Amino acid sequence: MAHVAFVALLFLLLVGHCLGGKVGICYGRNADDLPAPDKVVQLIQQQSLKYVRIYDTNIDVIKAFANTGVELMVGVPNSDLLPFAQYQSNVDTWLKNSILPYYPATMITYITVGAEVTESPVNVSALVVPAMRNVHTALKKAGLHKKITISSTHSLGILSRSFPPSAGAFNSSYAYFLKPMLEFLVENQAPFMVDLYPYYAYQNSPSNVSLNYALFSPQSQDVIDPNTGLVYTNMFDAQIDSIFFALMALNFKTLKIMVTETGWPNKGAAKETGATPDNAQTYNTNLIRHVVNDSGTPAKPGEEIDVYIFSLFNENRKPGIESERNWGLFFPDQSSIYSLDWTGRGNVDIMTGGNITNANGTWCVASANASETDLQNGLNWACGPGNVDCSAIQPSQPCYQPDTLASHASYAFNSYYQQNGANDVACDFGGTGVRTTKDPSYDTCVYMAAGSKMSTTNSSNLPVQSGFSPSRFDKNFYLLFSMLPIMIAACIV
Ligand SMILES: *[C@@H]1O[C@H](CO)[C@@H](O)[C@H](O)[C@H]1NC(C)=O
Ligand SMILES: *[C@@H]1O[C@H](CO)[C@@H](O)[C@H](O)[C@H]1NC(C)=O
Ligand SMILES: *[C@@H]1O[C@H](CO)[C@@H](O)[C@H](O)[C@H]1NC(C)=O
Ligand SMILES: *[C@@H]1O[C@H](CO)[C@@H](O)[C@H](O)[C@H]1NC(C)=O
Ligand SMILES: *[C@@H]1O[C@H](CO)[C@@H](O)[C@H](O)[C@H]1NC(C)=O
Ligand SMILES: *[C@@H]1O[C@H](CO)[C@@H](O)[C@H](O)[C@H]1NC(C)=O
Ligand SMILES: *[C@@H]1O[C@H](CO)[C@@H](O)[C@H](O)[C@H]1NC(C)=O
Ligand SMILES: *[C@@H]1O[C@H](CO)[C@@H](O)[C@H](O)[C@H]1NC(C)=O
Repeated sequence: MAHVAFVALLFLLLVGHCLGGKVGICYGRNADDLPAPDKVVQLIQQQSLKYVRIYDTNIDVIKAFANTGVELMVGVPNSDLLPFAQYQSNVDTWLKNSILPYYPATMITYITVGAEVTESPVNVSALVVPAMRNVHTALKKAGLHKKITISSTHSLGILSRSFPPSAGAFNSSYAYFLKPMLEFLVENQAPFMVDLYPYYAYQNSPSNVSLNYALFSPQSQDVIDPNTGLVYTNMFDAQIDSIFFALMALNFKTLKIMVTETGWPNKGAAKETGATPDNAQTYNTNLIRHVVNDSGTPAKPGEEIDVYIFSLFNENRKPGIESERNWGLFFPDQSSIYSLDWTGRGNVDIMTGGNITNANGTWCVASANASETDLQNGLNWACGPGNVDCSAIQPSQPCYQPDTLASHASYAFNSYYQQNGANDVACDFGGTGVRTTKDPSYDTCVYMAAGSKMSTTNSSNLPVQSGFSPSRFDKNFYLLFSMLPIMIAACIV
């Protein structure tokens, strides 16, 4: 039984390690070429993502998330604020038709009422709080006001001053709706939601904000707040603290801050030189590590901060400059634009502040000096309990030649690795797997890449090779391994 205890202990250690800020994804749909919602949900599940923000209460989307375990943040668009603020009955009807039939199969946990109202071309700011109150009343009648949290998102433009962070202050012209909103948030233990974009701070003022500072690079010059002496190593923390100090100035320092959008565009107009897949990957990778590690901010060290990365897909119908349409992690055909380690715990070297993996992703192959026995065990395991489709390495299939153990193991290791979040632990195989940034594909043998679709080859005749009888240690090792997807899922977000 000792080995069971050993595995249980490892499990606890790993899960214990997983507490941290949550990382979710924004699923914007301002595009005419996106996959159907059920396909999108599959993609989200492949990425082991557990927190998703949508911008409305589209019924097809809400239904697609049923029984997935994903926690959904839904939105009341600005265009609905007038009817929502005017009549309680409008909100009651909306709740009855758009939420109640799908809850709790679809686990809705937040409702955002209005989005960045201070940026709205139509002045709807005065309607937000009355609409929030009516949504609260409707939820209360349905007995859900303790289960679903109501808030509203803001842009950093709600501040009149954000630098230095200690001088952060809300624009007093918004006080008429902001004060009652903050009171509402305190009463209902809801977070203050803000969309933060260091990208724009850099792009609008590259002479004052360095790219390294915006990308969390350790090579960045520190910025010291002269009032507090706090040292800022990145723009994200400085922006959060400017909100924190603004809240403190109004005596709302206990409100939790939640980042409902942040990210980096992968492509932009000619003058948007910072908008590249490499920078986007660096920003989001470092962001996830920062959040998962509970690094907090200089003003609130160790504070858990939940963030939603913007965005799942490039959205071709967004107006504005080129970058507006290119914030996605994925193209509409579901291929990935760059790979991302959602666990924030990969062995990538954060100290480089970039060049973590190239835009084309990473692969996992058999180590050149691994023993035959170890390779065989790893191969057997990947094609068996590991659930990898190994049909491509069968005789006459594209990856059979060269008919060597190392080649077959490489193919199987890589498939397992890609199917399990391309995380370094998914390329361990008892130390016989190594990660590479060079695509191992050759001729017609195509190695799976991050975000690539699963092989469609028929895999009914899987080759679980005979003669495999793991020792006690192997059992522990493989049992632990077979729990990896669960642990990774538990760790993500
Ligand atoms: C928006 O409307 C509110 C109330 O109707 C008003 O107090 C405020 O000044 C308006 N803001 C702008 C920018 O027009
Ligand atoms: C405060 O908000 C008003 C109304 O939107 C705007 O005209 C003004 O420029 C803002 N002030 C600052 C300092 O941003
Ligand atoms: C950089 O900061 C200085 C001082 O705050 C300011 O005067 C200047 O306009 C800023 N430059 C840009 C490009 O924003
Ligand atoms: C995580 O936080 C600890 C303590 O704050 C720090 O020492 C460590 O460098 C951080 N790790 C990463 C990857 O940021
Ligand atoms: C990333 O790679 C590019 C090109 O290879 C190089 O010029 C740059 O210095 C690297 N950046 C870092 C932070 O290592
Ligand atoms: C990514 O792949 C493309 C096409 O295969 C290639 O042209 C490009 O050089 C690759 N980029 C890197 C950074 O390896
Ligand atoms: C295998 O080779 C790598 C470098 O190619 C080396 O770092 C590693 O120590 C070697 N492992 C063993 C077990 O020899
Ligand atoms: C795979 O092959 C088996 C038998 O060879 C067949 O019954 C099954 O329908 C096939 N599955 C797919 C998805 O083609």
